Amino acid sequence: RDDKVIAPRLLVWYDRHARVLPWRIPPRGGRADPYRVWLSEVMLQQTTVAAVKNYFIRFISLWPTVEDLAAADDAQVMAEWAGLGYYARARNLLACARAVSQMGGFPTSRDGLRALPGIGPYTSAAIAAIAYDAPETVVDGNVERVVSRLFAVPTPLPAAKPELTALAAGLTPQSRPGDFAQAMMDLGATICTPRSPACGICPLIDDCDARAQGIAAELPRKAAK
Ligand code: ADE
Repeated sequence: RDDKVIAPRLLVWYDRHARVLPWRIPPRGGRADPYRVWLSEVMLQQTTVAAVKNYFIRFISLWPTVEDLAAADDAQVMAEWAGLGYYARARNLLACARAVSQMGGFPTSRDGLRALPGIGPYTSAAIAAIAYDAPETVVDGNVERVVSRLFAVPTPLPAAKPELTALAAGLTPQSRPGDFAQAMMDLGATICTPRSPACGICPLIDDCDARAQGIAAELPRKAAK
């Protein structure tokens, strides 16, 4: 077993099978816009990719830049957000857009990003990796599931989170960390699914301890409620 082959294998798969999503323009490689990454990641918290797509397209057409959003009418933003839920996110969205606009643009470091309203460890890592190609590790529920299976982690969630984050960090490549993060999410959403994972078509089948042990569908374990 060689963990160094995991990222390159996953990126080869991603180059063929990345989901075509409106915030992936250009879909891979190339220069990304932190505004679009930020907006999509905030929308995707607690909301599915399918539900977010049209909201994202609508927001970008109404407010193509963070300065446009900063100047928007509060009530119009709240009205356009309706249906996405968690309205505190929409209020933070506007507060963040106004702070960024005042600063003359998005901060370029993860710590600078994290100081902004509504931006926590997840979103700051996602923007740094996806928009700036910084070697940050982005861990959401999909990534936790994929990593728990690759390493057959027996610890239940949520106690396993620090361990899973460290294992994910160990897999993150210096080159294309943003694509790697999105590839892990796509793998978790389309192949390494919670129930009945499609191990037969997984690019990481030969790297997966849980698969070797026949326990992929049982991981990650969850603490009894
Ligand atoms: N879920 C959250 N962020 C995502 C992204 N950038 N791509 C796919 N799924 C995601």
